[in-house]
Amino acid sequence: MITSIIVGAGHRAMVYASYAKLHPDKFKIVGVADPNKLRQEMVAKEYGLTPDQCFNSAEELAAKGKIADSVINGTMDRQHVPTTLPLLKAGYDVLLEKPFAISEAEARELHAAAQKYHRRIMICHVLRYAPFYYEIKQRVLAGAIGRIINIQTAEHVSYHHVASCFIRGKWHRKDVCGSSALMAKCCHDLDLLAWFMSGISPEKVVSFGGLHYFCRKYAPENSGEYCLLDCPVEKDCLYSARKHCLDHPDRWAFYVWAGLENIENPTLQQKEEFLKRKDNPYSRCVWKLDNNVVDRQSVLVEFADGVTATHNMVCGTSRPMRKLHIIGSHGEIQGIMDDSKFTVRHIDLRPGHEYSETEIDLNIHGDTTGAFGGHGGGDLRLAADFVSLLEGNKPSISCTTLDDSINGHLIGFCADQSMEQNRIVNLSDI
Ligand SMILES: NC(=O)c1ccc[n+]([C@@H]2O[C@H](COP(=O)([O-])OP(=O)(O)OC[C@H]3O[C@@H](n4cnc5c(N)ncnc54)[C@H](O)[C@@H]3O)[C@@H](O)[C@H]2O)c1
Repeated sequence: MITSIIVGAGHRAMVYASYAKLHPDKFKIVGVADPNKLRQEMVAKEYGLTPDQCFNSAEELAAKGKIADSVINGTMDRQHVPTTLPLLKAGYDVLLEKPFAISEAEARELHAAAQKYHRRIMICHVLRYAPFYYEIKQRVLAGAIGRIINIQTAEHVSYHHVASCFIRGKWHRKDVCGSSALMAKCCHDLDLLAWFMSGISPEKVVSFGGLHYFCRKYAPENSGEYCLLDCPVEKDCLYSARKHCLDHPDRWAFYVWAGLENIENPTLQQKEEFLKRKDNPYSRCVWKLDNNVVDRQSVLVEFADGVTATHNMVCGTSRPMRKLHIIGSHGEIQGIMDDSKFTVRHIDLRPGHEYSETEIDLNIHGDTTGAFGGHGGGDLRLAADFVSLLEGNKPSISCTTLDDSINGHLIGFCADQSMEQNRIVNLSDI
């Protein structure tokens, strides 16, 4: 039985913790640490915790010494390293949310501390566990497409996702949340590039991008500042808060309605009142907020063996989508995660043929937006692998140990530097 304490009882930590309900014989939640009393009480009720198992912060928990095998750290981005360091020192193994650090210096500090205290950290790069990527990784490892030549990934962040998280939501400014949009959203995809390369180091990174659409000059003519209070064009607007939040009250609910957590089952009328409050960013026009993170960014990476890779993050798309295309010496694999299908293609030398292809349909449907925390089926598979690692089993091919997860983050930090300084960044220089 592996025991764990929830540190930062937000939406994400609760998803991983729910593995304990599915497998009570393997995993048990034995504590919570969160300054938010409401969330503390909610976890205590859900997992039958006593007051002496509830703590007001990671730091307070760490000061008690080790009282469980592990922690699930689901605090926000800029708290990951400061909250994890004392917990490592206290002797905990850690399941840590991404981005696990907000700078290259922090990433290295965490890595050094894990080594010093001989602790294991697994990063919540859930996409490695999504069957779509897992199945492709297995084929690449088995040599199905020969030597990798080039990898292309893209994430299309939909109009409702970008509005809820990167314009009106808590990742709207790097100086507030600690992360750039690339790191907050696409450190997963950069991790996949590094993972598919199986330990070959990324060497050079270049990146372009910016915030070019969600800014005042593109606001619809005559638009107001607050959708439900003073906007005469709200009913025709693609980013109307009413259409995004009230017409779809369950979409991104854990972000949009976080301010109503004190009310059990808020009514639609209470939600509408909340959307009329001027101190609520979800009431605001998306073109007139103080967001400063990019709405597009392209990254180009060269690995030590000459493999090139690109990632494109594009925000405001009609359909949410993650795309992957890996080109090898003998064939290629191409697919869209949200379709739950990919195609394996090979050179075909037979007269009258050019290539042959097979479509693999994984038949996983339901959570196509990612809004409900599924990540193509990755979330709970990752929790299961964390438990398995702590049980002493051999790491799986997905296993996101810190050692194996650092390269993707380094690519992201270099990409942001490259974009900001308009230059090629060598990983050896940072
Ligand atoms: N793996 C993924 O695909 C994925 C998806 C979405 C978000 N995330 C990441 O998950 C993390 C958590 O996001 P969320 O929306 O669940 O967060 P959240 O804001 O809902 O929860 C964070 C919790 O941490 C608590 N907290 C603050 N200081 C603390 C401290 N010192 N000790 C203990 N607890 C403390 C807060 O009170 C809050 O309850 C973020 O870093 C986010 O980027 C990951």
